[in-house]
Amino acid sequence: MNKRFPPVSAALPVMMHGADYNPDQWQHDPKVLEEDIRLMKLAGCNAMSVGIFSWAALEPSEGRFEFGWLDRLLDSFAANGLYAWLATPSGARPAWMSAKYPEVLRVEANRVRNLHGMRHNHCYSSPIYREKTAILNAKLAERYAKHPAVVGWHISNEFGGECHCELCQEEFRKWLQEKYATLDALNSAWWASFWAHTYTDWAQIESPAPHGESMVHGHNLDWRRFVTDRTVSFCRHEIEAVRGANPDLPVTTNMHMIEGLDYRRFADELDVISWDSYPLWHERKDDSELAAFVGFYHDLFRSLKKKPFLLMESTPSLTNWQSVSKLKRPGMHKLSSLQAVAHGSDSVQYFQWRKSRGSSEKFHGAVVDHVGHEHTRVFADVAELGRTLAGLTEVVGTSTPAETAILFDWDNRWAVKDAQGPRNMGLHYEETVYAHHRALWSLGVPTDVIGSEDEFSGYRLIVAPMLYLCREETGKKLEQFVEAGGTLVATYWSGIVDEHDLCHLGGFPGPLRKTLGIWAEEIEGLHDDDRNGVILLPGDELELEGTFEARELCELIHAETAEVLGVYADDFYAGRPALTRNRLGLGQAYYMATRLKDDFLGEFYWKIADSAGVRKALEVKLPEGVTAQVRSDGVSDYVFVMNFSGEPRSVSLDGRVYVDLESAEEAGARIELPVNGIRILKSSSI
Ligand code: GLA
Ligand code: ZN
Repeated sequence: MNKRFPPVSAALPVMMHGADYNPDQWQHDPKVLEEDIRLMKLAGCNAMSVGIFSWAALEPSEGRFEFGWLDRLLDSFAANGLYAWLATPSGARPAWMSAKYPEVLRVEANRVRNLHGMRHNHCYSSPIYREKTAILNAKLAERYAKHPAVVGWHISNEFGGECHCELCQEEFRKWLQEKYATLDALNSAWWASFWAHTYTDWAQIESPAPHGESMVHGHNLDWRRFVTDRTVSFCRHEIEAVRGANPDLPVTTNMHMIEGLDYRRFADELDVISWDSYPLWHERKDDSELAAFVGFYHDLFRSLKKKPFLLMESTPSLTNWQSVSKLKRPGMHKLSSLQAVAHGSDSVQYFQWRKSRGSSEKFHGAVVDHVGHEHTRVFADVAELGRTLAGLTEVVGTSTPAETAILFDWDNRWAVKDAQGPRNMGLHYEETVYAHHRALWSLGVPTDVIGSEDEFSGYRLIVAPMLYLCREETGKKLEQFVEAGGTLVATYWSGIVDEHDLCHLGGFPGPLRKTLGIWAEEIEGLHDDDRNGVILLPGDELELEGTFEARELCELIHAETAEVLGVYADDFYAGRPALTRNRLGLGQAYYMATRLKDDFLGEFYWKIADSAGVRKALEVKLPEGVTAQVRSDGVSDYVFVMNFSGEPRSVSLDGRVYVDLESAEEAGARIELPVNGIRILKSSSI
């Protein structure tokens, strides 16, 4: 776990700092490029993402390619010590293509084909779109794969969405045939006998539609899996077109918080994971809940390859797509940028370098504003961060020593919300996952976010909130994990369905019943205002006490082999088990039968982290709104202490000797953090 990975680019083995650079907007004014290069150096930038939506500039008409502007750009980068993530431009297509080949345009679920326009509006199956992409990608690769300024490939932009055209329907049927081989197998996996939904010919099957089939859960789930596979196949197609020209050049695609794509399926295709993070800071005085949420996504993206990732986009100031656009308060630019680094990013990149003069993002934050010079607050913040990042080269490649993991599967996410079950007004699956993660984040426990197919054995603590979709194999793996000494925390509404969204028969939580030592007989949904409570019983080794509020979902469980640690306070199920622990082999498995709030989760995980023996970034209790995250190479630990509370905070350290990485001075026993303050502390074991 504690190791140092090689930098993502041997040519640029430092923290990357830069922005999406779209100079095709400024081709009429060559002085802009010259001035931009001066400003990039002044801001301490070293890596720009270029060409992201440049198809119209690169191929202004079919088969006529224009590389002159990109040659000039990359050559001036090389001459000035700047580098580029070179993008393939498939995120948006030129008008001539949509006009000549309308089949490249996406068809929505209502079966209506979109008109030309927008971006991310193309069919991933269309042979023409694939052919045109491969031609242009290959030309870019042939010309630039060995260019000294190019550090890697930025494939397309934020893949996403789905297409319901006839070609995609055909592909869906093929995908199903490969998966199920026979219609009988498909019909039984989809429980098609219900409502006479039995298929008698593959040709009868279509993608889910608002005016057609939308209620067959197994069908919906398979469609979502197919959409991921289709998108991965398109991404792979793009990579194949560029890879050959220089196999050493790393490949990434920028991801986003997209629910519709199972990003774990992309991980093997890519050399490095990158993602775009746009939190809406300062909606409240205390930003810590939002910071924990962002931390969750940093942890998730890092865990896709379990190695450093890249923050590919963020805003240097504000975004322009939210209802109210707040500016970053002093200190927040540095804090939020270094938060990414704290969780494992080896870059801080922005959208975009220079503000557009027109069109939809002309008021989105950028490093260079419409005023055109460097004398702005935002530019100063960016330049200051550039200086800080330049001092963090030794952090590049260090890993995150997580002994704790949260289980978060996309197919569970899809299935749990499609369930039509105990609380259709909101099961709040993601919110629940975030709440458990937040409790760990507040304790400074480094946490991976993993999927059921990942390896469990390296962890001491696995938290699996609402593992509604639980395969037999996942149940077995969790059982082995606990037997071998691991601690598992699970909750209500777990082990309910299998991979086809078919209920486990014989008692919930299905494949987890033995490990958790309980039988979940019934579940009740509560209205927003309804409350129950959990009374913790005295005398347990965890020494938790008190009564805590329970909300939204209450499961009525029987402790089979589990011990009862807490019981319900109210209603006809008062006195029945609400919190249990089952000992199995060398480990233990906790079960929360109801939704508990942050006050309980904070106290619970404080004890559990201790009893499971998981590592924390700092072995102290952190003040509210402060987190600590750690990166390490096994010799040196880099502890990032961050204050999102909106108030000044004083943090006592844990007795180790720390040196402040920015000032090179010893940190002492306690540090003072102003509002939005951050300190990077280094401690070495030799
Ligand atoms: C996304 C896109 C960018 C830009 C930003 C604005 O993440 O990838 O092109 O539109 O949002 O926030
Ligand atoms: Zn299509």
